[in-house]
Amino acid sequence: MKPSDHPLTVLVINGPNLNMLGKREPEIYGRDTLDDINADLAAFGAGMNITVDCFQSNYEGALVERIQQAMGQVHGIIINPAAYTHTSVAIRDALLLHTVPVIEVHLSNIYKREEFRHHSMVSGVATGQIAGLGIQGYRLALTAIRNMA
Ligand code: DQA
Repeated sequence: MKPSDHPLTVLVINGPNLNMLGKREPEIYGRDTLDDINADLAAFGAGMNITVDCFQSNYEGALVERIQQAMGQVHGIIINPAAYTHTSVAIRDALLLHTVPVIEVHLSNIYKREEFRHHSMVSGVATGQIAGLGIQGYRLALTAIRNMA
């Protein structure tokens, strides 16, 4: 086993309305469902010796609690906070509990869309951000965490 192949656990968090992927504005978000994305990520992660733990909620407090519970338990976090990206100090503060890499992912390019989507509460505390590359953004984020761990 190469040193870069040591086992990792990565938490993947998706926020509100992302459970509706596939049905929700497919011209923006594509036709893959969240189950498709999570299954793809689990298989992709397995090939890099990464266990992927996926969580979705429509509730801000539930997202905060999952981020808190992950303290000391994971080697990285991938988060698409969805609409909470633009509003949630609570999610930002919860992410600050972590010293592991945090990658913010957006399916769409939030900077090309309505002005209220141009500001992210999370990007100032994230290690990096991937926006506008569709579902491959999650794979890229997982690869980045593998390369940083
Ligand atoms: C999103 C962009 C957000 O502005 C929006 O509220 C979402 C999805 C994206 O993945 O492109 O729900 O985070």
